[in-house]
Amino acid sequence: MNVVILAAGQGKRMRSDLPKVLHPLAGKALLGHVLDTAREIGAAKICVVYGHGGEQVRNALDAPDIAWALQEPQLGTGHAVLQGMPDAAPSAPTLVLYGDVPLIRATTLRRLIEAAGAGSLALLTAHLDKPQGYGRIVRVGGKVTRIVEEKDADDAERAIREINTGILVAPTAALARWLPTLGNRNAQGEYYLTDIVAMAVAEGMPVVTAHPDAAWETQGVNSKLQLAALERVHQRNVAEALMEAGVTLIDPARIDVRGELLCGRDVSIDVNCVFEGKVELADSASIGANCVLKNCRIGRGTRIAPFCHIEDAVVGPDGIIGPYARLRPGTELGRDVHIGNFVEVKNSTIADHSKANHLAYLGDATIGSRVNIGAGTITCNYDGANKFRTVIEDDAFIGSDTQLVAPVTVGRGATLGAGTTLTSDAPPEQLTMSRAKQVSVPGWKRPTKNANSKKKD
Ligand code: UD1
Ligand code: MG
Repeated sequence: MNVVILAAGQGKRMRSDLPKVLHPLAGKALLGHVLDTAREIGAAKICVVYGHGGEQVRNALDAPDIAWALQEPQLGTGHAVLQGMPDAAPSAPTLVLYGDVPLIRATTLRRLIEAAGAGSLALLTAHLDKPQGYGRIVRVGGKVTRIVEEKDADDAERAIREINTGILVAPTAALARWLPTLGNRNAQGEYYLTDIVAMAVAEGMPVVTAHPDAAWETQGVNSKLQLAALERVHQRNVAEALMEAGVTLIDPARIDVRGELLCGRDVSIDVNCVFEGKVELADSASIGANCVLKNCRIGRGTRIAPFCHIEDAVVGPDGIIGPYARLRPGTELGRDVHIGNFVEVKNSTIADHSKANHLAYLGDATIGSRVNIGAGTITCNYDGANKFRTVIEDDAFIGSDTQLVAPVTVGRGATLGAGTTLTSDAPPEQLTMSRAKQVSVPGWKRPTKNANSKKKD
C-alpha cells in the first residue's frame, strides 16, 4: 500500500504563522494524526506532499518512513498527488489522504482499501444534508461516472447530496498514467484529482464507493472554529473509550487527554483534568478536579486531591497528594507518602510513609522513610551557580521553617528544631537547632505618640 498525504495547502483561514497541518489537536499536529493512522493500517512508506511552511513541517514530523515531496507552486490536488508518484511502488495501490483531515479512522480506510481490491478505483463518499462546498458524485444508473466540483456544477449537480470526501484508493500504475494528462480548464484553473474518475470510467475500470462510519472522520480543518470542533469530537471519543474500559469520569465532557492515558480498574477522574504525554493511573487511583498530569505514573489507591500539577514524576501506591501540590521532573515518591498544599518537589526521592503536608520546597533531596517535613521547610539546593543535594535519613523530624543549606545530611532519627538554618550535617538521634536565644525584656514599654510631634503635610 502506497500512501500519499496532501499537505501543501496554505490554510489562510487559520490566520496563523504556523503551517496549518502543524496545528495541534489533542497535543499532536494534525498531520501527525494522519501519519499515525497511515502507520496503523500498515503503510511501510508514506509520501507527504508539502509546500507551505515546508521546512517547518518536515522538521516537526520527519521520520524514516516518510518520503517528502515538495509541491511548488500548488496547482491543485491532481498536481499534488503527481508529485508523490515517483515514490510509489507500482504494484501496490495508492491511498490518498489529506493532512488536514485528522480524525479519519483505520477501520474506515481498511474498508475503502478492501473495496478497491487490486484493480478498482475506490472513493470514500458521504451523504450530507448540506453538501455545499464539496465535489459531488455524479451517478448514471447508480454507477459513478465522474465527480463535479461545486464551482463547476450546474443546478442539478449541486442538488446531489453524495459528496467526495477526497480520500480515495487507486491502482498506482493507472494513477501514474492519468495524472500527467489532467487539464486545468475548470472554474478554479486547477489540476483536479477528481478528474481521474471520468478517466477510469472511460477505460472501463470499476469505480466503487465506501463510506465512513461517522461524518467527523472526513471533516477537514480550515479554521480555528473547525479545529476546536474536531478537538471536542476527539476528546469525546477518548472519554467514551475510557468509560467503556471501566474508568469513572465525573463528566466526560470535561476531560482532555493529549497523549496516552492508561488506567487500571476502578480509577476515578473528576472534572477539568488535563493529561499530557504518557500517564498511567494504577488501580483505584483517583484524580481530583483541575489537575494537570504529564508523563507520570500514579500508584494503586493513591488519591490526587484537586489542583495538583504533576510532571515527569512517579507517585507510589496509597499516597495522598495535594490539594495544590506541584511534583516536578525527577520526583519519585514511595508508598503512603503525603504531599500537602503548596509543597513543591523537584528531582527528589521520598521513601515510604514520609510526609510533607504544608508549604515546602524539596529540591534535589533524598528523603528516607517515615520522615516528617514541617511546614515552611526549604532545601536551599542552589548557591546561584551550582546545585547540591540534601539527604534526610529515615525517621528524621524536620521542624517548621527550617532551611537545609545543601550539601547537607540529616542523620537517621535526628530532630531539627523549628526555624533552624542547617549549614552542617545533623547527627543521628540528636536534636539540632540554630536559633537565637529567646529573650524577654521586663518593664519594656511600647512607644506612644507624642502630642507635639504632629507631622505637617
Ligand atoms: C477537494 C476535492 C473535492 C472534495 C473536497 C473534500 C478536488 C479537485 N476537489 O476540494 O471534490 O469534496 O476536497 O474536502 O480534489 N492540496 C495540496 N496541493 C494543492 C491543492 C490542495 O496539497 O495544490 C491539499 C490541501 O492542503 C488539502 C487537500 O489537498 O489538504 C484538499 O485541498 P482543498 O483545496 O481543500 O480542496 P477542495 O477545493 O476543498
Ligand atoms: Mg480548493
